[in-house]
Amino acid sequence: PLPRDLEGRRVVVSAGGTAEPLDPVRTLGNRSSGRQGYALARVAAQRGAEVTLVAGTTADLDPPAAVELRRVQTTREMRDAVLDAAKAADVVVMAAAVSDFRPAALSVGKIKKGDEPPSIPLEFNPDILRELVTEDVPRRLVVGFAAETGDDHGSVLEYARAKLERKGCDLLVVNAVGVGKAFEVEDNEGWLLGADGTTQPLPMGSKAALAARVWDAVAERLR
Ligand code: C5P
Repeated sequence: PLPRDLEGRRVVVSAGGTAEPLDPVRTLGNRSSGRQGYALARVAAQRGAEVTLVAGTTADLDPPAAVELRRVQTTREMRDAVLDAAKAADVVVMAAAVSDFRPAALSVGKIKKGDEPPSIPLEFNPDILRELVTEDVPRRLVVGFAAETGDDHGSVLEYARAKLERKGCDLLVVNAVGVGKAFEVEDNEGWLLGADGTTQPLPMGSKAALAARVWDAVAERLR
């Protein structure tokens, strides 16, 4: 049986990608199946937490039982939903693959092919994680995700440690991404870095198993 170590805790999990409309038929987005975020939400609920799952674009997944599901499309919609749910939360896990840019303008009509390919001006989207950590909410834990490429594990970890510090989150789940790894597959592997300097390997396993490790680390820090 699973521990009930998240009983009485409110958690927010983001999952999936975000998609930014460009015209009535096209979007600019980040791809993500949402499976890792859904697994995190499901496992948290099984361990007693009250869970809000903010899901962007995902594969066709079964919604986890006993979880409040809020669907969004764009990064700005995700930001609003996450910040709103985060007000009362003890933990926020940003597992979503957020689109960092959006087209600066939404074209009313479908962009025509024309003689030249169009250039599409972009603007920055908000960084939801940064907004979360700069909000003054004492004792709320923020967990980020990072998919990193590198020549070897050492360089991936070094880069990830710098990212954790730059992002200011309490825990960072790091996936080494390569061809056929992490994205749109069932299994996942990586490391869990703590702002306290800890580095814990996350062995190759199911996304539910990785979720369990993340919640173990969170529960330990909430105690
Ligand atoms: O910098 P990078 O995009 O690799 O950081 C990834 C982490 O930051 C993830 O947890 C992701 O959900 C979060 N993020 C965010 N808002 C963005 C971009 C990333 O919250 N605009």
